Amino acid sequence: MATDVHGRIVPIGKTAANQATTATTAPHGKPSPQTPAATATTTTTTTTTTTTTTTDQDADAAAIEVAGLTRSFDGRRVIDDLHLTVRPGEFVALLGRSGCGKSTLLRVLAGLDREIEGRVLVPRRRAVAFQAPRLMPWKRVWHNVLLGLPGRPGRALAERALAEVGLTEQATAWPKTLSGGEAQRASLARALVREPDLLLLDEPFGALDALTRITAQRLVADVWQRRGCAVLLVTHDVEEALLLADRALVMDGGVIAYETPVALPRPRDLADPGFAALRAELLDQLGVTTSASVATSASVATSTSVIASASVTASAQGTSLAPEELGRPRATPHERIR
Ligand SMILES: Nc1ncnc2c1ncn2[C@@H]1O[C@H](COP(=O)(O)OP(=O)(O)OP(=O)(O)O)[C@@H](O)[C@H]1O
Ligand SMILES: [Mg+2]
Repeated sequence: MATDVHGRIVPIGKTAANQATTATTAPHGKPSPQTPAATATTTTTTTTTTTTTTTDQDADAAAIEVAGLTRSFDGRRVIDDLHLTVRPGEFVALLGRSGCGKSTLLRVLAGLDREIEGRVLVPRRRAVAFQAPRLMPWKRVWHNVLLGLPGRPGRALAERALAEVGLTEQATAWPKTLSGGEAQRASLARALVREPDLLLLDEPFGALDALTRITAQRLVADVWQRRGCAVLLVTHDVEEALLLADRALVMDGGVIAYETPVALPRPRDLADPGFAALRAELLDQLGVTTSASVATSASVATSTSVIASASVTASAQGTSLAPEELGRPRATPHERIR
């Protein structure tokens, strides 16, 4: 079930069958450290005639392949020659200052913005969940979940997705009767029902209170485990990024200015010195002075301290994200956004 089909569909390099072979043998859930330099040298020509890849990664194994992406608004380059590769099944967190272009990048990857230069390859099966749930008030929750799906999908499909997000009871409710967190989860169900190979999440937990946020984080982690899809999560919360992701990126100046693998055992432990070191490193990259104290970071990351302590509890309760437990990534044709 494809989410939408805009533009031309071009598998990366080889055939879909080859993609499937490559994808099932690709390491899953374990990031292979990719330096910014390596990212910058990725050169992939995505026409049907030529494919050139100069990284150590197989282009066929990519869930996202972006090369030389540029997006300008009124002559101002918000994205400026950006390169990015995300592997199937990889969970990547994208951080960056407000206004640096994260949502712009996600919109491009979602296929919602094609006023771009450069090359962008994404799976045809992709789904996006924005911070605002964007539910249609005149349709019941289950109907909202199915909106935009091709064919005539049955209600049972929506109900399964709603069960996944813990909203079985609200299937026939009107959106206005949902709490903010419930609406957010309904939005997530709408993304999940597409069975995406790529899940794009733009601050999906931003409006949630700390405890609901932890529940939603665990939900996304569970879905990622179960479905084995690639995830690109935009967040302002460094700890959220480190709790969930295989790799954290920092966007600045229109490019991925910094990235680090999050090679910590799962479930992640906030008390782990490695966790603290990565947190300090990322905050530093975000321009936050970390030598001051935890209080400094808490004032920057949304509700960091509350989420942190509660997340420890969540981890202790068993949010296990061991790579070997992850689902096998599926391979579907890619779409060339441009
Ligand atoms: N349609 C548009 N027209 C003009 N400028 C835009 C448009 N969309 C985004 N921008 C500008 O591009 C820049 C990046 O916006 P974007 O929404 O991608 O930032 P962001 O990194 O997601 O920020 P935040 O963390 O606050 O959500 C901003 O300066 C914004 O004003
Ligand atoms: Mg944004």
